[in-house]
Amino acid sequence: MAFSPRAVLEAQQGYKKIIEENPALALFSAWPQMWTAQKRLAEFLNARPQDLFLRPNVTVAMNDFIMALELPPNSEIIISDIEYGAIINICRYKAEKEGHTLKIVGGGESFLANLKQAVGPKTKLVMVSHVTTGSGFVFPIEEIAAFCRQKNIFFAVDGAHGAGSMPLDFSKTEVDFYGSNLHKWMMGPKGTGFGWVSPKMRPHLKPQFAGWTTYDVQPHFQAFGGGDEWTVRWMICSTVQFADYYAISDTIQFWQTLGAAQIQKRQRELRDFCAGEVTRKTGWVCLSDQVAPAFRGPMVAFALPAALANRGFELIFLLKEKHQLLVSMTMIHNTWCLRLAPHIYNTEAEITQAAGVLASLR
Ligand SMILES: Cc1ncc(COP(=O)(O)O)c(C=O)c1O
Repeated sequence: MAFSPRAVLEAQQGYKKIIEENPALALFSAWPQMWTAQKRLAEFLNARPQDLFLRPNVTVAMNDFIMALELPPNSEIIISDIEYGAIINICRYKAEKEGHTLKIVGGGESFLANLKQAVGPKTKLVMVSHVTTGSGFVFPIEEIAAFCRQKNIFFAVDGAHGAGSMPLDFSKTEVDFYGSNLHKWMMGPKGTGFGWVSPKMRPHLKPQFAGWTTYDVQPHFQAFGGGDEWTVRWMICSTVQFADYYAISDTIQFWQTLGAAQIQKRQRELRDFCAGEVTRKTGWVCLSDQVAPAFRGPMVAFALPAALANRGFELIFLLKEKHQLLVSMTMIHNTWCLRLAPHIYNTEAEITQAAGVLASLR
């Protein structure tokens, strides 16, 4: 999760206040406002708003797509060996529930080459992250998508760290599904994410959830989806904290005002500065820089000396309590690593200070 701009937080509070003034009315007036938020997001992603569905986070979005995907019995699902635990479990659960097998293919930079060797006639779904949780490694998703399309294999992307940190253009992509968070690099309200579904995928999906928009759709839901029944079927149609979703529009406004290219350029400057500064002061190996620049994402992870790595999650709390330093600990191949995720609200001076704190750890 990332910090949100003040303008987004204030807008969110304002929407909450209006909802609290008349909760009953709020429910009926939610659907046109949710559609407005979805359209603003679509504009930013160069997507058709009809191909998106809003969800509280990427875990829910990935569940809704993966569990809805109809695969022939005894299929094979392939994932990489550096995926996020919760999303691995969705693939594993689907495999166990429906009688498929789950294969793990390693490789990072050589993943695509290894995938080409690993696929067989039973392979029906490949799932990888866009930007991995451990070190911020960036998978070449369009190259993987082109290969999967050629082999008639579905390709789903866990883009938890994608939106906001990478330029996304859904008018051009070859991927079949992309799930993402808005509460990470987009700096949107906590509890907001989305799924983007290629229109080609619609005949292959049977939603696992049901609600108000499953059968005869009441007129007030028709304000959503621009007349597209599929979009209405996949929309959120139950009570949620609508204010969080409405503030997606304000998040997009923030990005448009500052300029997405400018924000992402600054993220990269801070990321590279952070990698250099922490390496220089601590002597730790920057795992994120062990790959060619094209595979480097917005985060930097460091291998820790054994005594620190053994302390696992505890370091997150220690660094926050003692030094006001916000870090993450991630597992890469069963070893705890320290991960830093600088964003535009950070400065070089803060990063230098943080590097000094890390260097003082024993
Ligand atoms: C690669 C990856 N996928 C999925 C998730 C899950 O995100 P959420 O808990 O917001 O659904 C994360 C969270 O850090 C992640 O790093």
